[in-house]
Amino acid sequence: MHNEQWPTSLGPIICVVGARPNFMKMAPILRAFRSHRPPLPTLLLHTGQHYDQDMNDRLFVDLRLPHPDVNLEVGSATHAVQTAEVMRRFEPVLDAHKPSCVLVVGDVNSTLACSLVCAKRGVPVVHVEAGLRSYDRAMPEEINRVLTDQIADRLYTTERSAHANLAREGIADERIRFVGNVMIDSLLANRELARPAAKTLQLAGFDPAIVDQAQGYGVVTLHRPSNVDQKESLQPLLTVLREVSERLPLVFALHPRTRANVMRFGLGELLDSERVVLLPPQGYLEMLGLLMGAKLVLSDSGGLQEETTALGVPCLTMRENTERPITVEQGTNTLVGANSDAIRRGVDEILSGAGKSGRVPEFWDGRAAERIAADLCQWLITRHARQHS
Ligand code: UD1
Repeated sequence: MHNEQWPTSLGPIICVVGARPNFMKMAPILRAFRSHRPPLPTLLLHTGQHYDQDMNDRLFVDLRLPHPDVNLEVGSATHAVQTAEVMRRFEPVLDAHKPSCVLVVGDVNSTLACSLVCAKRGVPVVHVEAGLRSYDRAMPEEINRVLTDQIADRLYTTERSAHANLAREGIADERIRFVGNVMIDSLLANRELARPAAKTLQLAGFDPAIVDQAQGYGVVTLHRPSNVDQKESLQPLLTVLREVSERLPLVFALHPRTRANVMRFGLGELLDSERVVLLPPQGYLEMLGLLMGAKLVLSDSGGLQEETTALGVPCLTMRENTERPITVEQGTNTLVGANSDAIRRGVDEILSGAGKSGRVPEFWDGRAAERIAADLCQWLITRHARQHS
């Protein structure tokens, strides 16, 4: 495909981001599109789903993401309203820019909303991180994944199991390409720039010695509605985390949803300990530094399951299922659910040196975005030629 020209009548690729986990996936894609020959013209669109300094601005800086060309500024609302607002505001962008396709990543509300608009307007949808399934329809992200994949014209997968999931849903093989994991592209590109954990604590006004002790420290994140939206789920989780902290100091980066619920349910006392460091949502380089130095990670995040696998850091995932089974089969991830005993057992194992060491999955090699650029360029140009012949 080298030396091929990008046809002048072929519009830009609109690259959509909306929420925090999208940013680390899009950064390497934009870089790969720019350095591809021919370069692939892009337009970066932010839906504004995540908007504040901690959830948005710092990550843009850390990941060296360009300023979005378009920002829909939808902000927070119920899922239905948020999805509807993105759709309403996205449609005129298609008219104004006549894109060759729209590229969406991951599984957030913005991913589905933009895909739906494209489907109605006959604009091709490209889905990066396609085919992941938790088979838990109570997760809003699962609905977003299933529906986006049904609509998508080109589907790029991070692990081979995703292809089987898509095949089961009737998606034709020729639409699917296994390219690897763009989030790991970001991780590998930024490893050297990561901010050491002690420095992060110091800058946040905490004693850096907490993470420098021989015993090490754990990193915690928690934000999934099923874990944090009811007092009955959140309280036992915080109780067991407090217990874990007696053995291993914990650094807890609090998502705004979780912080609000901790206050609302009056659970602040459970986190009030010298051995629990409460931080706001972290920048990318701070989080990477925290993960790289951690003895273990306790989280309900999607992305952290993969990042810990790539780094070889044991991860206990506080969910009953995962859409990223390779992190359990090959990586360092263990599902512990919201079960206090399973969490205690998992921590015991890791602290006694019996945690999983795992290996890095196929194609999690820092070159996934390059593979996407090469394939997408060829696909778009061939498609365009066919339509104009
Ligand atoms: C979203 C994604 C989830 C992802 C997570 C990572 C969906 C369905 N969920 O969940 O997949 O793992 O982001 O963070 O898209 N808020 C702020 N500041 C912000 C953004 C949000 O304070 O910049 C608050 C909102 O007011 C809201 C809460 O955080 O109350 C949740 O935000 P929302 O975008 O609805 O979903 P997340 O829980 O962040």
